[in-house]
Amino acid sequence: MTVGVCKETKENEKRVALTPEGAKKLISLGLDVIIEKGAGVESSYTDKEYTEAGASIESKRETVLEKSELFLAVQAPDEETVKKLKKDTVLVSFIWPLQNGDYVNLLKQQGIKAMAMDTIPRISRAQSMDALSSMSNIAGYKAALIGADQLDKYMPMMMTAAGTIRPAKVLVLGAGVAGLQAIATAKRLGAVVEAFDVRPVVKEQVESLGASFVEVPLEEEQTESKGGYAKELSQRNQEKQREVIHEHVKKSDIVITTALIPGRPAPLLVTKAMVEDMNPGSVVVDIAAEQGGNCEVTDPGKITRHNGVVIAAPLNIPSSLAFHASKLYSKNLLSLLELLIKDGKPDFNFEDQIILNATITHEGEIISPFVKENS
Ligand code: NAI
Repeated sequence: MTVGVCKETKENEKRVALTPEGAKKLISLGLDVIIEKGAGVESSYTDKEYTEAGASIESKRETVLEKSELFLAVQAPDEETVKKLKKDTVLVSFIWPLQNGDYVNLLKQQGIKAMAMDTIPRISRAQSMDALSSMSNIAGYKAALIGADQLDKYMPMMMTAAGTIRPAKVLVLGAGVAGLQAIATAKRLGAVVEAFDVRPVVKEQVESLGASFVEVPLEEEQTESKGGYAKELSQRNQEKQREVIHEHVKKSDIVITTALIPGRPAPLLVTKAMVEDMNPGSVVVDIAAEQGGNCEVTDPGKITRHNGVVIAAPLNIPSSLAFHASKLYSKNLLSLLELLIKDGKPDFNFEDQIILNATITHEGEIISPFVKENS
């Protein structure tokens, strides 16, 4: 079976789906690997390294697409690319099927066997395939660095001959994978950190990282779904949360917001009035910007100022750490492929819940129960 990898086409996407190390592994499983010339350059993987790993380099993108029986990508390949893939090609990438219904129909029509990295169930057995966590971890780490970079203050306490500087205060809203990594990174930089999340289980995780947990007395309500994700809060609870959070936001030097609710726009946590109560020079880093943002004055993709407060709303943060993001993504892909490929061929065993949930389209049908139930 021939595995193809092309340069990503989405603007500002520097990652590559497969590293030379990943290519070597696939070749050891008996597969052939073709890489489009320069596909790894922006994430610092050279054609020479791919060649040394045993892959072949092809200068024409069309040739890679024509030859691929298994096509690997980071972002869902654009429509033009999908139309050039052969029927029955196995595609593995992020797809976000619920947000991209027309795209899923195209995959179905083209007879593509598409697997989405974003619908792999988050069970223990699938941890090594969990690209959502790998990428969120990067986003959280980078959010803390962006905050430190934008702040016109030191992060750690500094005792100098010219006087003592107090450590910066960082507030992290949403303490899932990204939020926890933002907490850990801000702590390593020496800040005093506090955090809040609607899921009560998170309190212990926050405290184990040396941060304090902000208590919001929510009215009795189930804040967590069966899958372990957050649910949208009632109007009353949203107001309570804002009241408490307001007091913490105004005392913070950096507020990092990471709160998401699957299938919904990002919840509004930091209002314009809260930003206006922050000290000039303070920073909001809103990494929920891709889903509209958690801050009312967020301008997705931009760094702006509101009343002297810096509002940073970066998009596609993992691409800014492209070398490691690609390395981790490639490992996540390989773990899935090790499960899928039997004797050098894909084996779509739908008895396996990872294969079942990750498979979006197969022989003209929608397979993933998650997609069937929610679209
Ligand atoms: P996410 O990216 O969907 O959301 C980020 C965070 O925002 C979540 O912690 C959520 O509770 C929080 N949030 C939502 N609304 C909020 C609000 N109004 N105020 C404050 N915070 C709010 O979540 P992520 O990071 O992808 O993880 C979600 C769940 O999945 C967690 O329970 C995590 O432990 C679990 N998980 C399980 C894995 C496994 O078992 N293999 C791997 C990774 C995550």
